Amino acid sequence: MEFRDNLKEILSPGTIQKRIRELGEQITRDYNKEPVVAIGILNGAFIFMADLVRAIDLPVQVDFMRLASYAGTESTGQVTITKDVELVLKDRHVLVVEDIVDTGCTLEYLKEILKLHRPASVKICCLIDKKERRRVPMEVDYVGFDIPRGFLVGYGLDYDEEYRHLPGVYHLNPVHEPEAYVPSER
Ligand code: IMP
Ligand code: MG
Repeated sequence: MEFRDNLKEILSPGTIQKRIRELGEQITRDYNKEPVVAIGILNGAFIFMADLVRAIDLPVQVDFMRLASYAGTESTGQVTITKDVELVLKDRHVLVVEDIVDTGCTLEYLKEILKLHRPASVKICCLIDKKERRRVPMEVDYVGFDIPRGFLVGYGLDYDEEYRHLPGVYHLNPVHEPEAYVPSER
């Protein structure tokens, strides 16, 4: 069996790139020439971040954070920072770049932490919003795609650190754990 046999394409590379150009234009307009600090959340956002910042026509500084939540695939709400931001955020416009927002627990925690730096503003841009699965209220300022359910991989998103390198986004249907991962219909 080939590693791609478990995958069903949801977003093609071309669809993703087109949407990122639109997001970049919208962000460029909204910030109106103000400089931005883009913070990519590792590891999931590494590809999205690389494409998004190149679509933003503003002065942009780039930094990364890594957060760990103690769970297999389901968020527990217990989040810790394993790589902190290094740029100074005080009085800066911060744009958090995230792969996917699911329960919202990760970003709720992150927003509280970022407030301690006293930035001028904090906005969030995610590639995929799984709104139906929210456990805490979390509005995302810029959303690439709304995909209500299913476990997704590719374009930075992983299952057990695999599939991140794939150019599109796919529903994953692993053969070994059907109960936990069978994706629902969109
Ligand atoms: P939240 O705290 O539940 O919003 O967790 C969001 C994080 O869980 C994302 O940044 C991803 O790393 C991970 N995640 C949530 N859903 C998926 C998915 O469908 N595929 C891969 N990772 C996911
Ligand atoms: Mg993530």
